[in-house]
Order: sequence, then structure tokens, then C-alpha cells
Amino acid sequence: MGKLLGFLVLFPSLFIGLVAADWNIFSQKRENGVGSSLKNYCESWRMNVELNNIREFDVVPQECVEYIQKYMTSSQYKADSERAVEEVTLYLSSCCTMKGDGKDAWIFDVDDTLLSTVPYYKKHGFGGMKLNATSLEAWMLEGKAPALEHTYKLFDEIKDKGLKIFLISSRKETLRSSTVDNLIKVGYHGWKTLMLRGLEDEFLEVKRYKSKARQHLINEGYRVWGIVGDQWSSFEGPPSAKRTFKLPNSIYYLA
Ligand SMILES: *[C@@H]1O[C@H](CO)[C@@H](O)[C@H](O)[C@H]1NC(C)=O
Repeated sequence: MGKLLGFLVLFPSLFIGLVAADWNIFSQKRENGVGSSLKNYCESWRMNVELNNIREFDVVPQECVEYIQKYMTSSQYKADSERAVEEVTLYLSSCCTMKGDGKDAWIFDVDDTLLSTVPYYKKHGFGGMKLNATSLEAWMLEGKAPALEHTYKLFDEIKDKGLKIFLISSRKETLRSSTVDNLIKVGYHGWKTLMLRGLEDEFLEVKRYKSKARQHLINEGYRVWGIVGDQWSSFEGPPSAKRTFKLPNSIYYLA
């Protein structure tokens, strides 16, 4: 009884509180057009990039560069990535009725899935500057990208399960030896094929190039159980995989 009375007394004030708060947000929105604080604005920008609502951005909005830098170097970024990987592990525990004919396959992206480009972006405006492909490729040629710890463990788990691993990257063919060296140096080995963009694919959209690569695998009789990537263009377009897992990345967008 006492509780009920308390609720009745509390409820109207809560209700008034909510209305007042709503009204405050509304008036703020009208004042500065972004609603709430800069942190809220940048977090919702980031979230909508992940949801694939915000597409084809060339640069991170200037006012959010610092926020995105903080996120991509934070424990939250790690936790988000690890959570995605846990979901892959869960899926792997029951997903695949393997035929043992060597045709069960898994696809990984390379950049910001197996290797991190964060050290490059740290030195080059953290997504706030338009991409300079020349300088990014020069950095990739050095082969010093670190591994992403969370995917590193998953890579071996998938390999040990007997799945053939295909790496489909939008890096150019000219970067092959430095990419292979880099991957091996940080501990990745035992993939089946590394697919890179040759001259004939260089002018294709990443999305088209990657769907063409998947089609190629399927034509060869592979069953693609899953894809792990950091870009929506790694999953879109036919043929798809049985499941796809998106890792966070709000520094750049590959169409
Ligand atoms: C891009 O990077 C290269 C190599 O670092 C540099 O020479 C060039 O000036 C840069 N281009 C632009 C538009 O900044």
C-alpha cells in the first residue's frame, strides 16, 4: 500500500519531468540544429555510419574528428570488436555442416579487420582529411600495420575448424608482397588465397569488385559460411554469405 501511494505521488512528477525534458531538447534543437551536446551528435553520427544509414562520406565531420579518434583508440572500440567476434564464435559453434571436401569457406577483409590502419590515420588527420591514396599506399608498402588482436584469435579458430580462409581486399595487386609480409610478420598464416585488386578491377566500385570475387569462389564450388569485414561494401551485392559480421570503423567509407 505504501509503495502504491509512493508510486502515485511519484508518477505525476515523473511525467512532468519527462515533458519538461522533452521540451528542453526540442528547444535546443531549434536553437543550434544538432540537438543535445556535441558528444551526442558525434556518437549518433558514428552509430549511423555503423548502421549503414550514412553512406559514402569523404571525411569525418570536422567537429567529430576528435571524437572519432577517441573512439577508435578507446577500450570501447575494443569491446565492440570483441563482442562482434564473440558472436562469430557463437555462430561457428552450430553453423556449419562441413562436408570435409575442402569447399567450406570463410572470407575476411584485410584493412581494419585483420590489420589496423589506425597508426596511419593517427598521423594523417584521423579521417578529417580527404584520403590521399598515394600516401596511404606508401604506408602500406612499409608493411608495418599491427594486427587486430580480437580478429587474430578468430582467424586461427576458423582455420582450426577446417574452413578455407579467403582474404578479399581492395588493396591493389602491386601491394601483394608487402601485404603478405605484413600479415605473416604479425602472425597470420595459412589462408588459402589473398585476392587483391588487379588493373581490370581498379575502377570498379569496391562493392562490385568484392561481389565479383565471391561469385568466383561460388563458381569454384565453395560454400561461404561467413564474412568478417569493417565495410558494408564487403557484404553487399550478390552472392552473399550465410552470415556477415561487421566490425566497427568510422574513419573512412569504401563504396
Ligand atoms: C599525397 O601524398 C603524397 C605523398 O606523401 C604527396 O606527395 C602529395 O602532395 C599528397 N597529395 C595531396 C593532394 O595532399
